[in-house]
Amino acid sequence: MYQSSSPKRADSRKSRTINGVGVQVEDTQICVVMVGLPARGKSLIAQKATRYCKWLSIDAKVFNVGNYRRHDTPQPTADFFSTGNAEGERMRKAAAEAAIKDMIVWFRGGGQIAFFDATNSTKERRRWIKDCCDKEGIETLYVESKCDDEDLIMSNILEVKTTSPDYQGQDPEEAAKDFRDRIRNYEKVYETIDDNGSENDLTYIKLLNVGKQCIINLIQDYLQSRVVYYLMNLHIKPRSIWLSRHGESEFNLDGKIGGDADLSARGQMYARKLPDLVLESVGDSRPLTVWTSTLKRTISTARFLPPTYNQLQWKALDELDSGVCDCLTYAEIKEQFPEDFQARDDDKYNYRYRGGESYRDVVIRLEPIIMELERSENILIVTHQAVLRCIYAYFMQKSQTESPWMNVPLHTLIKLTPRAYGTQEERYDAKIPAVSTWRGKGSVAKHEDPTEETIILGSKKEIAEAQHVGDKTEVKAPQDEEAVSSTA
Ligand code: ATP
Ligand code: F6P
Repeated sequence: MYQSSSPKRADSRKSRTINGVGVQVEDTQICVVMVGLPARGKSLIAQKATRYCKWLSIDAKVFNVGNYRRHDTPQPTADFFSTGNAEGERMRKAAAEAAIKDMIVWFRGGGQIAFFDATNSTKERRRWIKDCCDKEGIETLYVESKCDDEDLIMSNILEVKTTSPDYQGQDPEEAAKDFRDRIRNYEKVYETIDDNGSENDLTYIKLLNVGKQCIINLIQDYLQSRVVYYLMNLHIKPRSIWLSRHGESEFNLDGKIGGDADLSARGQMYARKLPDLVLESVGDSRPLTVWTSTLKRTISTARFLPPTYNQLQWKALDELDSGVCDCLTYAEIKEQFPEDFQARDDDKYNYRYRGGESYRDVVIRLEPIIMELERSENILIVTHQAVLRCIYAYFMQKSQTESPWMNVPLHTLIKLTPRAYGTQEERYDAKIPAVSTWRGKGSVAKHEDPTEETIILGSKKEIAEAQHVGDKTEVKAPQDEEAVSSTA
């Protein structure tokens, strides 16, 4: 289900009610067909786009044809992918058919965007997929990743292919050589999309050399254009994203929510310490761009950062609007609006404060921030509890039930580093005491600390596996999915 913030195409959208709040629902179904030679980032692109869709409540799923092929042929050699290998061809076609079959069942159950992840390297294969989808009224959007940067392809092979289940237990050098031979076999039959106009009826985007150039054809509707825009913004340059809440505020001390309070004395100490904490975590002298909200407490927290860091204020980073409950404590909310207090505990993600916002609303307004983050390199965001939870949930794949309850401690800098499959996390504790603003379900206690049983940022298992190095904690990166090969 997709809740839209845009008035466009309202005609083609159904509406549905969640907790008394009307939301618009897309009824379009799209099969995004990945196209490209092996090691061109197809699986990575498909998985990132799936994560983005799910974060926006669009029901999305990857169908990786390689996973189906692995069922019968777990560790093929390059020869399996040769055109002369009739048995290989038969098995590869069977894997694609099984994947399509499951995908169609998934669409019939209401799925919205499927990523059909395989090389889909011939016109014949692409036409077959279109025919299967047309019969079901499913739109097709072809995404071709082309790349002729030999160094990048080699590093892709070494980084993700030699560790794929296709080569488990094998010598990495031999694996890399075999994978190159596999690519050569594909090159013999590979037809780029629409090289001679025979595929000009297809909806497609070609991403050339990681988005240096994009060619777009026949984008038909709103949802397709959202996916295409997202894909156009992706890059793979090494970079990190730093997240921090503002320093402790006067309102935090009183247990009041919202407002536009000043920092407390300890909050001021955090603001003074933040530049050192950032320097320690950056590890070199790269300048960062700093984004704050438009509220005093984040701007104040960022004010001692070096002048070489550009600073930008975003309204979209302002704290979740608590409407009529703004400036109240949780105890006052429970007393004055008992039904609302209960409704929020029952479904915190969807509950919208009277005259204010829900977490769902915040995610929608953060979409441009996520898009800009994908385009950018090193960014430090100083923001608020609810907003940080939403941004963190995007990168770390936290569910809508979990994310609004996560504990995001004050006076802690979080560094997220996107990797090929997953995001690595490190946390830097400023060691400046602050109250806890976390609230457990059902409780109105002021400054309650999360117990062992409650969810902390990251799951208990991740925390248990975290490594402590001085004041720094490294959390094992969650994997999007296995770094597999989609080649069938
Ligand atoms: P296969 O057909 O074997 O499944 P694939 O095309 O799905 O290969 P991935 O497994 O996604 O390739 O490869 C991941 C690697 O590709 C990562 O190291 C990632 O940094 C890199 N990568 C991501 N996007 C691109 C791109 N547009 N072009 C080239 N490489 C990319
Ligand atoms: O208490 C600090 C604060 O940032 C409030 O301004 C905001 O309303 C609240 O946290 C959001 O957290 P929750 O959604 O858990 O109430």
